[in-house]
Amino acid sequence: MRTETPPTVRLEDYRPSDHLIDRVELDVRLDPHDTRVTARLAIRPNPAGRAGAALVLDGDDLRLVALALDGEPLAPAAFRVAPSALTLPEPPQRPFTLTIETRLDPTANTKLMGLYRSNGVYCTQCEADGFRRITYFLDRPDVLSVYTTRIEAEAAQAPVLLGNGNIIESGRIEGTDRHFSIWHDPHPKPAYLFALVGGRLDRMTAPFTTMEGRAVELAVYVEPGKAERAAYALDAVARSMKWDEEVFGRAYDLDVFNVVAVSDFNMGAMENKGLNIFNDKYVLASPETATDADYAAIEAIIAHEYFHNWSGNRITCRDWFQLCLKEGLTVFRDQEFSSDMRSRDVHRIGEVRTLRARQFPEDAGPLAHPVRPKLYAEINNFYTATVYEKGAEIVRMLRTLIGERAFRAGMDRYFSENDGTAATVEHFLKAFEAETGRDLSDFAEWYERPGTPRVAVSGHYDEARKTYRLDFRQTRPGAGADAPPVVIPVRLGLIGAEGPLDGATSPQLEDGVFVLDAPEASLTFENVPAAPVPSLFRGFSAPVRVDMAMDDADRLTLLRHDTDGFNRWEAAQRVAARLMTGALRGEATEAGADAFAAALGAFLDDRALSDPAFAALVLALPSESDLADEIGAEIDPDAIFSARRALRARLGTALSARLHALRDALAEPAGAPFSPDAASAGRRALRNAALDLIAAADPIQGAALAGAQVASATNMTDRLAGLSTLALLPGEPREAALAAFAERYAHEPLVLDKWFAIQAMIPEDGTVERVRGLQAHPAFAMTNPNRVRSLVGSFALANPTQFNRADGAGFALATETVLALDRTNPQVAARLMTAFGSWRRLEPQRRAAAESALRRILATPGLSRDVADIAGRSLG
Ligand code: PHE
Ligand code: ZN
Repeated sequence: MRTETPPTVRLEDYRPSDHLIDRVELDVRLDPHDTRVTARLAIRPNPAGRAGAALVLDGDDLRLVALALDGEPLAPAAFRVAPSALTLPEPPQRPFTLTIETRLDPTANTKLMGLYRSNGVYCTQCEADGFRRITYFLDRPDVLSVYTTRIEAEAAQAPVLLGNGNIIESGRIEGTDRHFSIWHDPHPKPAYLFALVGGRLDRMTAPFTTMEGRAVELAVYVEPGKAERAAYALDAVARSMKWDEEVFGRAYDLDVFNVVAVSDFNMGAMENKGLNIFNDKYVLASPETATDADYAAIEAIIAHEYFHNWSGNRITCRDWFQLCLKEGLTVFRDQEFSSDMRSRDVHRIGEVRTLRARQFPEDAGPLAHPVRPKLYAEINNFYTATVYEKGAEIVRMLRTLIGERAFRAGMDRYFSENDGTAATVEHFLKAFEAETGRDLSDFAEWYERPGTPRVAVSGHYDEARKTYRLDFRQTRPGAGADAPPVVIPVRLGLIGAEGPLDGATSPQLEDGVFVLDAPEASLTFENVPAAPVPSLFRGFSAPVRVDMAMDDADRLTLLRHDTDGFNRWEAAQRVAARLMTGALRGEATEAGADAFAAALGAFLDDRALSDPAFAALVLALPSESDLADEIGAEIDPDAIFSARRALRARLGTALSARLHALRDALAEPAGAPFSPDAASAGRRALRNAALDLIAAADPIQGAALAGAQVASATNMTDRLAGLSTLALLPGEPREAALAAFAERYAHEPLVLDKWFAIQAMIPEDGTVERVRGLQAHPAFAMTNPNRVRSLVGSFALANPTQFNRADGAGFALATETVLALDRTNPQVAARLMTAFGSWRRLEPQRRAAAESALRRILATPGLSRDVADIAGRSLG
């Protein structure tokens, strides 16, 4: 159904609901095609709303069966009903009970919003506005209710029945093949946190006792036969609970915590109160099927959803404009958790890579929006890298500015002062203002306008005075001409030829942080014995782009001597990026590349074996999309690909002996048991990074080594790494390895997703045809979001040369998929469309091809609001 011009929702138009719903009693009788939902709602006028206002309950595709007020059927004249709303023009001016019966077809629900069936399992997804597909409701996050849910189903079809909160009753229904269970959640919550599950599921459980002494049963539910693959996720739940107690003082608040894995899911996972529902990709893990990256993602997402119990559930959002209040904060919390579980530097580098790969381009393109948007047509299109990742960076900057102790105290205050409410960004900042006595109104600007700030820096050494001055100038591209400066914490230090210049000091620094809060500012160090190299934005202390002219030699000094791990990595990245962009401009870069190779060699000799995970990141050069983002205009993805390949080949040649030696030194002893821990993963990562560079320099040798690794691997990380290397080397060995892999994992959909993705990312002319062929593969299904993302998503979002083909064939493939998918699952279709987000930065021929693809989409009749919104904004 097309809404011609989608109505725009504006933050400034917010007003409280005219009614509140204190209690909800749901009775859900599950049936594959005819599920009946009876909702008893205890409603009253909201004292903060408009007296005498009509009651307008939201609906989406609903069929009303019966309606009663205080137990009496309502006369037809007393209400109006449509699939999208149920209205009582003159509701009672006192508390009353409305009983609403609706009927649903969960099997026909292909949007995967509301109640649906995935592989025979009934489940729900209600964020952001899916509850209105179950019953008529005030489906907005500032209406909080206490829920009691009775779930009933055929016992054989759904032996497991789960709801929010604690289970209070269950049993058979006499004389039938059905059973039921009743769940009560004492914590008032918005409808988007409602969930239920019914199905045949196996489970793995563990006990947990909170610091408050509450005994909790933790359980992870998965497809029958896969219970052992839940062990890692279950352990991650326990570690998350413990960590949130230790680091944030937050304890769990129910008697059970359930996680359910389903195979059809639009997003990663969902934090429903006490009943988190996950895309099974982020639960199921075994050495044979999951890579180290999968294990790390499972750990992070389990933690993320659990942490929402406080940052999102106990304190929720007043309206959807405040989405970053729960998402940015919770990403920050899960990042900290992962950093504590793993290596902090390595994790920070990973966070920044994600931010630069996804958020920077978004913020520089037509889909740019403030971390707290001011308007939206379709809220589901705002679960973005900006809200999540830049939102997390804002919380991190706040901590950097006020220090760790004040940050923790402010968090405690935020939690205690806002517990049980639907809050705003202002409530969050106010807690820190109250704690520190600091005015954060300037800092709040980070939420208000889009665009990645740029900071230009120049350094000036005064030989006579032994001082060093840094001049900073900030600009805000994309934020509008009237944008005020932002408050930028710059963590920095000075490095000399032999190491850190610890004697150099500046009264303008507090704990190594300089606060740049004006358009221009200078910082002067004293006691600087010789011209130093500045190490700026240590730990990536602000989400900005930095422009500073610096020689490769100085950057390589940082790689060698900086005490900040992030900046050591960043130094190597900058040198590599300069070499590649220089080559693109036709500069001679051979000498520079050789000097870089020599520095990398020294670095490897020094640190590779003591910190392999870090070394692997240093060897991974900036990606094609990093380079595109840096170049910023008139992009030719083929030229970028060639420049990158050339540098990789040159480095691989120069470092060949060392890379082979590293592979040998890091080989896993035969028969060693697999461990997904960070140290073991780091050794695998470096070994595979070495393989990749060897293959870049010597494809024949690379193919032989990669082929052997695929054949002999004892875990998915190594097998897939071998296959990924081989995928870049055209020929019979590649095709044979791909075929063998498909056969081996024919019954493992999540592993076949990796196989789809690898092929979709092959940077060769034939890939469009290959992807089209794979769309007809029996294991592919347009109804499963993971399959679509693996095949078409990988193609559109991770294959720059082929998606952006100059003849438009890549855009055509993506367009056809978006249009086909839009009929069944608009949310996933809209997400796929974000691949077009950087189209304006392409060179003219590709830009024209992308534009006509976008116009074709926008001109298609019957487009969903989700896709129309993205297409419209992309062109706008
Ligand atoms: N709230 C979920 C999370 O970030 C994401 C999500 C949004 C899931 C919308 C489903 C639907 O944890
Ligand atoms: Zn979240």
